[in-house]
Amino acid sequence: TAPEPVHTALTSWYHRAARDLPWRRRDCSAWGVLVSEAMLQQTPVSRVVPRWHEWMRRWPTPQHAAEAPVAEILTVWDRLGYPRRALRLQESAQVIVDRHGGQVPQTAAELRQLPGVGEYTAAAVACFAFDQPEVVVDTNIRRVHARVFAGDALPGKTYTSDQRRLAHSVFPDPAVDDGELACTWNIAVMELGALVCTARSPSCTACPVAEFCAWRLAGSPPPTEQQRTR
Ligand code: ADE
Repeated sequence: TAPEPVHTALTSWYHRAARDLPWRRRDCSAWGVLVSEAMLQQTPVSRVVPRWHEWMRRWPTPQHAAEAPVAEILTVWDRLGYPRRALRLQESAQVIVDRHGGQVPQTAAELRQLPGVGEYTAAAVACFAFDQPEVVVDTNIRRVHARVFAGDALPGKTYTSDQRRLAHSVFPDPAVDDGELACTWNIAVMELGALVCTARSPSCTACPVAEFCAWRLAGSPPPTEQQRTR
């Protein structure tokens, strides 16, 4: 199977334009990816980067974090907010040591069993750390899907079954490139939502998929009352 034009357009943009973030580098461990996703849950990238380096310097593996004093964990987490996330991450490290021989598990189903790991984080780690073609959906991705594929200005506040079906229906066939295209698609859609297809001021003139965008083709109508509140 050949990739769809929209898949090619967006993933080649990603290779050109994406931010160089430490947890996206090829040499980043699966543990580094898990730590990044825990930190990024409610905190912007710019504040996460220095904390992530500090955490990985002190606790480069799950073993190190599992044995760390809780007070130190909370100090390094510091102003990232929601300190319960730091405690869940340490508990995850302990589960990884106790039940997985110190290796971060590779499937979304196993990852989902770790403390504090929900559907998003499980799919994200399986994809970004282990190249598994899982469908990843977060707020940015839902907004891009709503615009490009459904023609809506905004996706609505909750993740509905229609949105889940849409995310699956536009996901690249995992048979293409051994799933590499599918994995890159996840991070490319996320990055487009972060850098270009933002909630308040999308830069459609800089958008690599503007020619495919149902919202743009409809004249970029503003959100309806229903879209803003549903
Ligand atoms: N790269 C991988 N996951 C990310 C996230 N949640 N936010 C920003 N960049 C990421």
